[in-house]
Amino acid sequence: MSISLEQAVTVPASERRPVRSPAEVMEIARARESSLSRLLIAYISSGLVFMLLPGTFLGVWNLLQISGRESAGSVSQAWLQAHGHAQVFGWIGSFIFGIGFYSIPKLRGATKPAFGAAWACWIIWTIGVAMRWAANVYGWQWRLLLPVSALLELAAFVIFFRAVSQHRPENSGKYRPEPWVWVVISASIGLMLTLVANFAGTIYMAVRGASPALPHALDQRYLVLAAWGFLVPFVWAFSTKWMPVFLGLKPLRPKLLLAALAVNSTGIVLTLAGWGAPATPLFVAGAVLAIAALRIFESSRQEPKTRGVHWSFPFFVRMAYGWLLVAGLLGIGAAHWDSSGGIWGASRHALTVGFIAVMVLSVGQRILPAFAGMRLLWSTGLMFAGLALLTIGCTLRVSCEILAYQEYASWAWDVLPVSAVIELAGITAFAMNIFGTFILEPSHVQKQPLVVGIDQATS
Ligand code: HEM
Repeated sequence: MSISLEQAVTVPASERRPVRSPAEVMEIARARESSLSRLLIAYISSGLVFMLLPGTFLGVWNLLQISGRESAGSVSQAWLQAHGHAQVFGWIGSFIFGIGFYSIPKLRGATKPAFGAAWACWIIWTIGVAMRWAANVYGWQWRLLLPVSALLELAAFVIFFRAVSQHRPENSGKYRPEPWVWVVISASIGLMLTLVANFAGTIYMAVRGASPALPHALDQRYLVLAAWGFLVPFVWAFSTKWMPVFLGLKPLRPKLLLAALAVNSTGIVLTLAGWGAPATPLFVAGAVLAIAALRIFESSRQEPKTRGVHWSFPFFVRMAYGWLLVAGLLGIGAAHWDSSGGIWGASRHALTVGFIAVMVLSVGQRILPAFAGMRLLWSTGLMFAGLALLTIGCTLRVSCEILAYQEYASWAWDVLPVSAVIELAGITAFAMNIFGTFILEPSHVQKQPLVVGIDQATS
């Protein structure tokens, strides 16, 4: 063990640390990077499995049944909710935890990521979400399993929150959080409230429910909290952090971003208080403010960074923000004219598939290969195919859901199953591309000349 002269003179013997050679420091950094990548791959892989089978496949099955019977009310509400839960928490939730555990310690300059907590969180979260899906779908011991699953999900969130909030930057006294950090905090509060509401809902079902499904009116409010309080702010946060670089956007307008969060949160509070219809314009206003803050539709000041992904990447990101506006406007329309659940369903689908899923397919394929051991995306062609199929499927679904459910055009019932299969194909292409990247593309961590940082990985 070697120590420097300065250490020998000024540092007491009990506190002396070994001085490492540059080669040793590099080796430690590479080992840490490999461990972080393994963790990330675990979260992303389980998220993809939830997305494919319990999520999208069940969603397609539900839609085939709805289309066959030409009525949304005649299919099992527990199965519809099982699909929604698997997508929102199993897919998007697992991705957020994985990316958070991978990136937050690096962004905050932590030297020792909390690996034990991160793996414990993954196990508890995955069991909790899988248990919820199984209890909803099979109905076995659901009065017990629903609250237990919700408790496990809450416990996983607490582990995540404690682990990432313990990482402090070295000069934390002078630390002033960047705007995207406020949005992450807001989104994390939304996630926590959604999980608490989910727990309360499962207790309600266990004690008073006749089936493992939330009553419709409660479910509608809960979905607004999950969609606009948790999913949307997380996408805004990732957009604030990465879109100025990826799309070469002009600098963020931070005050508008804060205003967007405030208006959006007011909409959620009003909805939870029972004023759902008057709250709908606030979601459109919040989306317009966020778009203006991020300057998504303004001309870029730099070339977009499309190295390693399909060149259409900036187009799909901008289109996703178009879907966000469509979702908000359909929400206003639904509050006035919906008589069948079709306009509400179309609004929710424009949001979950058009905005959230298109963003995840775009940004996911941009960042995940680098995070998972400095790999290259397996196929840029498959990336384009997945995004194009998802967009076509979503356009058909959103338009035909209104036409069919509202009884404006009976031919639209025949288009809905086709739309579902096209969406399934798009989602499957994404999953294949990410698994192909993890399994078939070599990792370049060992060849990196420097410690891999989040900004190197995403530049
Ligand atoms: C990609 C193919 C998908 C298909 C075929 C599909 C299908 C469906 C169907 C048939 C419903 C029932 C309500 C209605 O008729 O609109 C539904 C509801 C829902 N979907 Fe999807 N969906 C898909 C993707 C997604 C995605 C990507 C998400 C989230 C990220 C999502 C989240 C939800 C939620 C939260 C609900 C409401 C569940 C409830 O009533 O509690 N779906 N979906």
